Amino acid sequence: MDPILDFTGKVALITGASSGFGKLLARELGERGAKLVLGDINEADLMTVADELGGAGIEARARRCDVSSETDCAALVELAQAEFGGLDIAVNNAGIAPPMMSVEDTSEAEMDRQYNVNTKGVLFGLKYQLPLMKQRGGGAVLNVSSMAGIGGAPKISSYAAAKHAVIGLTKSAAMESAKYGVRINAICPFFTLTPMVTDIETPGVSQQDFQASLASGCPMRRLGKPEEVIAAMLMLLSPKMTYVTGQALAVDGGMSAM
Ligand SMILES: NC(=O)c1ccc[n+]([C@@H]2O[C@H](COP(=O)([O-])OP(=O)(O)OC[C@H]3O[C@@H](n4cnc5c(N)ncnc54)[C@H](O)[C@@H]3O)[C@@H](O)[C@H]2O)c1
Repeated sequence: MDPILDFTGKVALITGASSGFGKLLARELGERGAKLVLGDINEADLMTVADELGGAGIEARARRCDVSSETDCAALVELAQAEFGGLDIAVNNAGIAPPMMSVEDTSEAEMDRQYNVNTKGVLFGLKYQLPLMKQRGGGAVLNVSSMAGIGGAPKISSYAAAKHAVIGLTKSAAMESAKYGVRINAICPFFTLTPMVTDIETPGVSQQDFQASLASGCPMRRLGKPEEVIAAMLMLLSPKMTYVTGQALAVDGGMSAM
């Protein structure tokens, strides 16, 4: 296997692993030799994913984990320690989309919901993942932010605020952890065709028209494909990518270049 994408023997934890990016990344890392520790709030789908991976000869352990619960995040990391003796890679990927609404209409409850899952989920992950990686003498963390973590995102301001905060956490944690050989980066996808986007229902607008309207402002004039985001994730997690930390990589068809 090309050493750039050889994850043989690495222990990789992924949250939000029952769908979308998390599910795809689990398969890609597993096929490249990683042992997996998977968490998701959707326990039934998570167990199906773990069974499918096991059937394909990939070592995978899974546990229900609501990332807004510090206790659940700690328990997922403990599973990695108990089952595989440590942790090399963590992907804090679990996230939720907000209902579309203006800043004026955004409630405190929605803001709290966004921060609880999309921001605190990353903080709670880092808190328990970093000690294990430091013990091991190094590791790589990838936090899933968004294009909405880099620039303004009309009608989804609570999500944008929470995803901007993910980048702040990423950069701060990267500075604290660099001397221990632990790299921490963020990835910032533009709208990509996972269930988070394909399941959106807009009254009176077909999914095709909805996607076309989202894509119209993008220099590539199309939405992202999940595998394009996974390729960037694998690159940032690569055992050969040893001098990149504290970065927020846009995977966005050129949006952030405008
Ligand atoms: N798809 C996009 O266009 C896009 C763009 C930018 C960023 N993102 C981010 O990518 C990440 C993955 O999203 P996706 O596109 O794969 O969507 P998805 O809806 O397919 O997957 C999200 C997963 O997170 C899980 N989840 C939700 N709340 C959780 C919680 N409290 N605890 C644990 N798991 C929870 C869901 O059950 C689901 O399995 C999210 O952080 C999302 O914000 C997605």
